[in-house]
Amino acid sequence: MIEREEENLMTGKKAETQDFVQFENVLRPKTFNEYIGQSSSKENLKIAIEAAKKRGDGLDHILIHGAPGLGKTTLSQIIANEFGANIRITSGPALEKQGDVASIVSNLEPNDILFIDEIHRLKPVVEEVLYSAMEDFGIDIVLGKGPSARTMRISLPHFTLIGATTKVSMLSAPLRGRFGNVMKLQFYTTDEIKQIIMRSARILGCKVDDDAATLLAKSSREIPRIANRLLKRVRDYADVKNKSLIDIGATREALDAMGIDELGLDSVDREILSVIIEKFKGGPVGLNTISAATSEEQDTIEDIYEPFLIKMGFLERTARGRIATDNAYEHLGLKLQKRIF
Ligand SMILES: Nc1ncnc2c1ncn2[C@@H]1O[C@H](COP(=O)(O)OP(=O)(O)O)[C@@H](O)[C@H]1O
Ligand SMILES: [Mg+2]
Repeated sequence: MIEREEENLMTGKKAETQDFVQFENVLRPKTFNEYIGQSSSKENLKIAIEAAKKRGDGLDHILIHGAPGLGKTTLSQIIANEFGANIRITSGPALEKQGDVASIVSNLEPNDILFIDEIHRLKPVVEEVLYSAMEDFGIDIVLGKGPSARTMRISLPHFTLIGATTKVSMLSAPLRGRFGNVMKLQFYTTDEIKQIIMRSARILGCKVDDDAATLLAKSSREIPRIANRLLKRVRDYADVKNKSLIDIGATREALDAMGIDELGLDSVDREILSVIIEKFKGGPVGLNTISAATSEEQDTIEDIYEPFLIKMGFLERTARGRIATDNAYEHLGLKLQKRIF
């Protein structure tokens, strides 16, 4: 088995330390102008915000979905900022009981934004309270127990719920239906990622030349979070080597040291493919088997690695399991062992 890096670039696992959280926050754009790409979502939001301001109303509830690292949290904070509203941040798994929701929403001010990350992970009982909070701006609270219990209606200010999710298909239909505005974030073009890298480099005070930025952008899987993490690692590498300019040579060396190849695949990507090819004759093989053989969680494989491998044409998802494509054999240099049926 391939040895793990001390910190996984794609998942940020073991990277969710204070350091990395801080690093991401420093690089987080605060306005629509600084937020690169996603032009149709931005236009749509700008109009919604302007209209709500003109009417003196709150914003419609907004659902933002898209792969990890595409900018959902950032965009939510920008919405609050541009709307001039307070934002209260929580997540699906953090809301365990109905009372958790009740205590948060009853403390909101008019036009406040409640941001629920990973909203697909809400428990059904918690979701139920949200329905009435979102739709009628009210919640029912049960007072007392047993036969003497009675419910009391509390009315809430007009607040805006922003939900973020990587798995929109896991949202229940009633919850999804309560969002007036549903937007899907897109993967970024190489040029957009390059702009993000240049912006981050400026903020971090490091110099990156154009070729190096292009190579970094191409290795970033079209995802800003990965671009920023790669930049950080390359900067560290250049620092150690006493290079004041991050050029293509330093970038190539740093990427090699990280095990990232010229197509942006990392060691886990290659391990997933080589497990399918070498242990299972190219597939089809089930996700749980791949997970066991690579010691990566199923969710991580499904959310982070697979979409990229599929997009790159290295993996196919079929009803009977995952199959490594001819391109995967070729990329790994495993042509000779190719299945012959
Ligand atoms: N459109 C963008 N322009 C510039 N930087 C971005 C953009 N989207 C995301 N980022 C950067 O990528 C990182 C991850 O973004 P985040 O909003 O946390 O992603 P998500 O919540 O979708 O997982 C942040 O550091 C942010 O600065
Ligand atoms: Mg987020």
